[in-house]
This record gives sequence, C-alpha cells and structure tokens, in this order.
Amino acid sequence: MNYTVVLPAAGSGKRMKADKNKLLLELFGKPIFLYTLEVFQQDPNCDAIWLAVKEQERDLIESYVKSYQLTKVQGYATGGTERQDSVRACLEAIPSCGVVLVHDAARPFIDTAVIANLVKTANTSGAAIAAVPVKDTIKKAEKGIISETIDRNQLWMIQTPQAFRYSLILKAAQAAYQDEFIGTDEAMLVERLHHPVAIVESTYENIKMTTPDDLIYGKAILESRLQEEQK
Ligand code: CTP
Ligand code: MG
Repeated sequence: MNYTVVLPAAGSGKRMKADKNKLLLELFGKPIFLYTLEVFQQDPNCDAIWLAVKEQERDLIESYVKSYQLTKVQGYATGGTERQDSVRACLEAIPSCGVVLVHDAARPFIDTAVIANLVKTANTSGAAIAAVPVKDTIKKAEKGIISETIDRNQLWMIQTPQAFRYSLILKAAQAAYQDEFIGTDEAMLVERLHHPVAIVESTYENIKMTTPDDLIYGKAILESRLQEEQK
C-alpha cells in the first residue's frame, strides 16, 4: 500500500541546546535528518517525500538531498512558527493522495514494518498513529502532592508517524487553523472532528532526538544496528 510522507524539519531544536537546528547535527558524520529521509527513500511503498523547512535552511537541506541522491523528495514547503503550521503548509502543498504519513524529521529510527501497519490501518479506518505502551507508573500531582495514580494499562506514549487519509487530515488541519486550535500532534486535530484514531504498536527505538542525551542513545542504536548487519 503506497503513501506520501510529510516531514516537518523547520524547528530550531531549542531543547538540544546546539547553536543550530538539531536536525543538522551529525551522528557518525551524517546529519540526523538524512537518516530519516533514507528510511523513506528505501521503502518501496513510499511514493513521495515532502519537507517543511525554514526558508534560510532550504538551500543547505536541498544540497544534502541532491548529494545523497534522495530522489523521492518532490518538494518543500516553508515551515511556520508552530510545528502544526509547518505540517499544514506541507499538506496544502502536496498533490492529493490516498494515505499521507506525517513523521518528525527528528525520529530517524522508525521501523518500516510499523510504517506498513500504519498505512494499512489508515487506509481502512482513516487515521492511525504509532505508539508504545507506557513503561513507568504515571501519577498526577497537584502542588507536589499525588492526587491520582493513572491505570498504566490504558496509557500509550504517542510517537510519529501518524497516518491519515489525505482528505481527512487536510480538513482537520484547516479546521484547527480556522479555530486557532493548537494540538501537540496531528491525531488531536482529527479527534476534535470526532473521527476515531487507531493505535499501531511501534518500537521503543523510535525516539525523537530532543535533548543532548538522545544523541548518546542515537549513536548506540546506530552502532547496534551496524553490528547486526555485520553478523
Ligand atoms: N518542527 C517544524 N516546525 C516548527 C517546529 C518543529 O517543522 N515550527 C519540526 C522539527 O524540525 C522536528 C519536529 O517538528 O523535526 C518535532 O519537533 P521538536 O522535536 O519539538 O523539534 P524542535 O521544535 O526543533 O525542538 P524544540 O522544541 O526543542 O525547539
Ligand atoms: Mg518543538
């Protein structure tokens, strides 16, 4: 089942505390976002890749895309203030398609089997998002005192990719914009239209490179994958 992927890459990476967009930081000599792009370049089911980028970073990102021969990259949209603005700009720029995947450029370790499950589920139900079961006990606190322990069996940590029927996510993104609603993921925009969103179990390796310690974990993941390949 084929799909188009939209990759928001127009953040500034404040929490990474680097002096540039964290996506340009290198892991073993290659910028983070290129690892993400290569997953989709190599997935035979991916028809097209679209990126939301900052205007001032576009030339640099385009030059990497050319030198790494990422031929599936079909276009760029200019990112906005919020991640949601960047995603909407991309959704409005891409040609109409069946299923669209929204995936953080900052999550380079996504598994292609998870992508396939997401696309299949979104094709039948309209919306499907990657998630992993919560490992820790989660409690709610008020002024430093526990007020509630939440049943962990019902809790999921939500990731990207998030897959949708194109017409549904475009409608949801535009409705959120009109209503000045900002969500923390795309699914929230669809949930507020009362459309069901399915969960597809993902992997704990699908981390978002967010804070400096994620770079250490990211390098460890790459090293263990390399060792597997050499076996
Ligand atoms: N992103 C984007 N446009 C924005 C903000 C974020 O395209 N206005 C992208 C980032 O480049 C990243 C993804 O959305 O690939 C997930 O966002 P996040 O991890 O929060 O990245 P940043 O916003 O760059 O980091 P921070 O919040 O620490 O500043
Ligand atoms: Mg951010």
